[in-house]
Amino acid sequence: MPILSPSRLHIHYLAPAHCSEPSSEHLMENGQDVIDGLTQSQKTLPPKYFYDDYGSQLFEKICELPEYYPTRTEAWILNEYADAIAHHTGPCDLIELGSGSSTKTRLLLDAYQRQGEALYYQPIDVSAGILAESAQQLLMDYSTLQVYGQVGTYEQALANLSEPHLDHRLVFFLGSSLGNFSPVECDRFFAQVADVLAPGDFFLLGIDLEKEATILEAAYNDSQGVTAAFNLNMLTHLNQRFGGNFDNQNFYHQAIYNKNAAQIEMHLHCKIAHSVDLENLDLTVPFAEGETIRTEISRKFNLNTMQQYLQEKGLATINSWTDPKQWFGIILCQHQ
Ligand code: AVI
Repeated sequence: MPILSPSRLHIHYLAPAHCSEPSSEHLMENGQDVIDGLTQSQKTLPPKYFYDDYGSQLFEKICELPEYYPTRTEAWILNEYADAIAHHTGPCDLIELGSGSSTKTRLLLDAYQRQGEALYYQPIDVSAGILAESAQQLLMDYSTLQVYGQVGTYEQALANLSEPHLDHRLVFFLGSSLGNFSPVECDRFFAQVADVLAPGDFFLLGIDLEKEATILEAAYNDSQGVTAAFNLNMLTHLNQRFGGNFDNQNFYHQAIYNKNAAQIEMHLHCKIAHSVDLENLDLTVPFAEGETIRTEISRKFNLNTMQQYLQEKGLATINSWTDPKQWFGIILCQHQ
């Protein structure tokens, strides 16, 4: 195995100072968001609780499911147009929000490498393990690459970006993760992004586009039950994290497309009336038969409307690309 020069790998853990072993655990809040969500009339839980180690593995599996088209469709677009993106931006520090396994990142790194650019990559992820592992892999495969990883939330990491090494920054946010934000969260997110971009810097966004309900519902109710396991695993995760006694047998998964809101809504349906204790939160939650917990929204967008929205946020579209079925879109914009 090649020996990696430590000077090419820098990982910054944005955990509270008292944590000796930083991990994604420390980056979660104290559970107030769980209390808030489970005490509303439509119970909700924040989607970040999907992603313990097992949940992250299940998500990787979801991305490979035949029904779950977003990952491979976005990769197809990037494969086709990464050279055009690199050509438009020229030399850039590459900053990825929610980098995960950095699989699609390789398509961009390859394009910048083909263009003879220096490679500076800042992955940002809440999961320390997956970030470190994928950074090591990338360093082995790209001999001139320098990695400056940040383990933390988008908010923390955007507030702590290292000075750019090259002419500009390219911040990218792929996988339609934007779809998991409410409109208010979107506004907050773009205010932060605009804050770290200097005039002339770039932003690359991958978004899932509106389409027939049958295609969308199949993608989120897959036939192998991986999405169901992913959804139910949130309860197991809450049990571990907050001393809970959720019994997964009392719930089942369902995703429905809300056409008016143009969003998939993931629910856990309660099969029988019962109550659940979350000891560490000092919380008892009564459930009625048939009521649901909404664990995620996944918004679907219109490419033109998104470009107008970005323009209002000071991000002017340079170009956008889609696949032949127009199921997914990628927008490259520049801060004015
Ligand atoms: C991470 N996010 C973009 C996925 C989505 O499609 O909204 C999460 C997901 N939930 C169920 N399947 C995938």
